[in-house]
Amino acid sequence: MNGIRGTTLKLLSIILLSVIVWGCHTETNDMGSWKVYKGDAAGTSYSHLDQINRQNVTDLSVTWVFHPDDALPDARVSKYECNAIVIEDRLYATSAQRWLYALDASSGEKIWSYDPFKGDDGGGICRGVTFWQDGEDQRILFTADHYLHAVHAEDGTPVTGFGIDGKVNLNEGLGMDPDSIWVIPTSPGIIYENLYIIGGEVSEYYGAAPGDIRAFDVRTGKVVWTFHTIPHPGEEGYETWPEDAWTYMGGANNWAGMCLDEERGIVYVPLGSPVYDFYGADRKGMNLFGNSLVALDAGTGRRLWHFQTVHHDVWDYDLPAPPSLVTVERDGEAIDAVAQTSKTGFVYVFDRVTGEPLFDIEEREVPPSDIPGEEVWPTQPFPVLPKPFSRITIDESDLSDRTPEIRQEVLSSFQNLRFEGIFTPPGMEGTLMVPGTRGGGEWGGVAVEPDLGLLYVNANESPEIAQIQRVNESDSRALTAVERGAVYYRNYCSSCHGADRTGLPPVNPSLVNVHERLTVDNIRNIIKSGSGRMPSFAHLSNRRVENIITFLTENVDITPGISMDTESEDGNYHNVTAYSYFRDSEGYPAIKPPWGTLNCIDLNIGAYKWSVTLGDLPDARHEDEDITGAENYGGPVVTAGGLVFIAATVDKKFRAFDKETGELLWEYTLPAPGYASPSTYMIDGRQYLTLCVSGTSEHRDGSIMAFALP
Ligand code: HEC
Repeated sequence: MNGIRGTTLKLLSIILLSVIVWGCHTETNDMGSWKVYKGDAAGTSYSHLDQINRQNVTDLSVTWVFHPDDALPDARVSKYECNAIVIEDRLYATSAQRWLYALDASSGEKIWSYDPFKGDDGGGICRGVTFWQDGEDQRILFTADHYLHAVHAEDGTPVTGFGIDGKVNLNEGLGMDPDSIWVIPTSPGIIYENLYIIGGEVSEYYGAAPGDIRAFDVRTGKVVWTFHTIPHPGEEGYETWPEDAWTYMGGANNWAGMCLDEERGIVYVPLGSPVYDFYGADRKGMNLFGNSLVALDAGTGRRLWHFQTVHHDVWDYDLPAPPSLVTVERDGEAIDAVAQTSKTGFVYVFDRVTGEPLFDIEEREVPPSDIPGEEVWPTQPFPVLPKPFSRITIDESDLSDRTPEIRQEVLSSFQNLRFEGIFTPPGMEGTLMVPGTRGGGEWGGVAVEPDLGLLYVNANESPEIAQIQRVNESDSRALTAVERGAVYYRNYCSSCHGADRTGLPPVNPSLVNVHERLTVDNIRNIIKSGSGRMPSFAHLSNRRVENIITFLTENVDITPGISMDTESEDGNYHNVTAYSYFRDSEGYPAIKPPWGTLNCIDLNIGAYKWSVTLGDLPDARHEDEDITGAENYGGPVVTAGGLVFIAATVDKKFRAFDKETGELLWEYTLPAPGYASPSTYMIDGRQYLTLCVSGTSEHRDGSIMAFALP
């Protein structure tokens, strides 16, 4: 681009920005950069840039592509969820293998890379990295496996004074044996002054680590404060659990990221469900701060307020996305608010300072559990406004009628499942979950126009089936290693990888002959630390893990004939169909479209400005029928150019919508799905949009793609 024009544009933009920022209640990202995960500490995913706009978006084209090419030769095709940050003219992101990269943000050229695994197999989901600066001292903090790394932004070398040789073991300091737990953050931590605040993904099963939120000193890696998400004696909420629950219960963790009111020094932390996700007779009570949005003093970790969105969760309805700061108008008055989306499709809007809900939230009665000993909470909170952005109940008229046969088939499944609307507890006979654990909302989160109180959110319509069974965990001496492995496989793995190990491609890979692709070490590592949407099984004893590996590698065809031992003292309740979609025999959702949507909600009045179908599966419909919508994960970006950009869908499209109307203005076919949220920034007067795109057979570890006007 021509230099003079670039400079003029930059100047113009700076003037414009000053005008916009004047009187702003929410600090958004600087003009040209994308400094923080999802744009800024306020979690807005909003950009003031307008060079790419409604008029010219159809001219948008690919300007550079970066292939990390760091995957081991036989690695499986990766899913890639990173939202790159951009500081001045540099882009920082991890690859799907979880190496850290610094690229020239205008050319895509590599400046340096850093391999946290030192040649070993990498991977695991990393949605972003964090930048911190004190004068010349500039650092990138990011996590890989259960380590927090600090790297010099200038040259990618470890900050040796941080932790031990530049890293901190996140499994340590939680009051549990660090080798028996796995704290593996998937979303980045957030900076407040010289603190790096982070939670972590923990196992979703019995024996998980607690979800403590910790603030680390950015200079030294030392813990400065800890907030116990499962309260200790004397802490508020302790009475919402059985006695001493904090010593043996896990979860209630923050895996989705956070947002920060920098001026007030308040960090907003959305939490997930306690373990075990689908059964809670061993944790009677409301289980604070599970599924809560918690506002903490960012400097001390002291709790300021909280709101619990699901009491005593048995649905895995984690709060799945960082909240966003917005300012809304009420009776002519501006109120600084925080908005939180959920897997259930509810949007919660609170006064940011007091925690007062800005729309009524009613406690409504919900159905009881039929599992012996399980006492689900008799009521759950329902925000009256805004209305949920995905279906929270269905009836027979919602069932798919793609063909008469499919209609019959899904109707009979539906009639055989227990379903009394959202919050029907998972039962022994099989329960329908609407929404499913994939939302509603997901980890991509939302974009907001902070000063207009507008929120843009994508949603899944993806019911699931949950069936609880009591399964025997005892290591019967009478069984061989392979047989024991088969039992553990059935208990822990089959819900995703299938009883016959063929999986549910492309999401849950087949494990048939997995040992021909992966070494035993690789398999052991994946089981211990999890990968992508596979939870960690760090709590399983080594012997059990070895038994499972024996079962997988000997490749014998045992469907264990061992019956579920309902009497055994060692029994545990499992959701044996956890995460199973409610789908027809051709693999499409068993409910009528739309199967994915994009929505604009006016948080001032709690009403929808527009709602459109997001994504399309053309093979699932006739040519003349409306598009179907599709499962989607990454989040949107909204810009002053009048556009909402979003990839997210399984149909591999990257799209731009008119933010006023929801009209589709531009669509580009990616080499693979873009499950990441895009970033946008300006360098030398040119606006770029980048997106991390999942792997293909050619580039197994995916790519970072940048788009700009010609
Ligand atoms: C909640 C669903 C879920 C459960 C339960 C689960 N997995 Fe997975 N598993 C996945 C997903 C999703 C992937 C792909 C991960 C990725 O994309 O990085 C995967 C990947 C794997 C892989 C790597 C396969 C390859 O080809 O690279 C192995 C091995 C594996 N799982 C074994 C297991 C074992 C053993 C268990 C039980 C102890 C288990 N999984 C339980 C969802 C699950």
